[in-house]
Amino acid sequence: MSDEEASARALTVMKASFNERGQAKLDRLDQDETQRLCSIPPSVKLPKEVTDRIEKLNLELVKYPTDGRMLGDWREGEKIAQRGVGMQFSDNPKNPAGGNCYACHQMTKEEISFGTIGPSLYNFGKLRGNSEAIQRYTWGKVWNAQAYSACSNMPRFGHKGILTEKQIKDVVALLLDPSSPVNK
Ligand code: HEC
Repeated sequence: MSDEEASARALTVMKASFNERGQAKLDRLDQDETQRLCSIPPSVKLPKEVTDRIEKLNLELVKYPTDGRMLGDWREGEKIAQRGVGMQFSDNPKNPAGGNCYACHQMTKEEISFGTIGPSLYNFGKLRGNSEAIQRYTWGKVWNAQAYSACSNMPRFGHKGILTEKQIKDVVALLLDPSSPVNK
């Protein structure tokens, strides 16, 4: 059986065995081009042309804030980074989702419970500054992580509508505002 046939059969089995519940619909099994390319078994190393294409197409999908202001309120950003709710069948889609950043990143010295799948973001703004270029990078990274690192394990928060524009401003402020606990 070819890989394509095996994938098609696996998808049929999954579609037949999952039930839609609440906001969790079966369309979550439909992969876009990025997800399809990134689901090729890890034993097959994607050529550089392909990873470059993934990053380019995802960078084109980043939407920058309409008013041009990328820094919101870091206090709200900290709450969003701590919140792990949203997107599950049992969550009300009308309530704002969290970013759950601490599940993968260290961010502040105060929070000692954090995951390590992602790099530590402690002192992120102190180390990089908050120039226009860094603000655009940080915004783009949170909006669509694949724009800067193909097949990243980080959720595409803006692109997938997990966080709103306002919430992303707050999270970017948490990372870049000099008075944020990330930079103390
Ligand atoms: C499921 C795990 C996961 C979650 C949740 C997650 N990230 Fe990440 N993040 C990663 C990984 C893995 C990387 C490194 C690979 C990459 O760059 O995509 C990363 C990289 C980053 C980077 C780039 C770091 C650098 O050195 O340039 C930033 C900024 C970032 N994450 C911010 C966030 C923020 C803010 C949140 C919450 C809104 C978040 N992440 C949630 C996994 C995660």
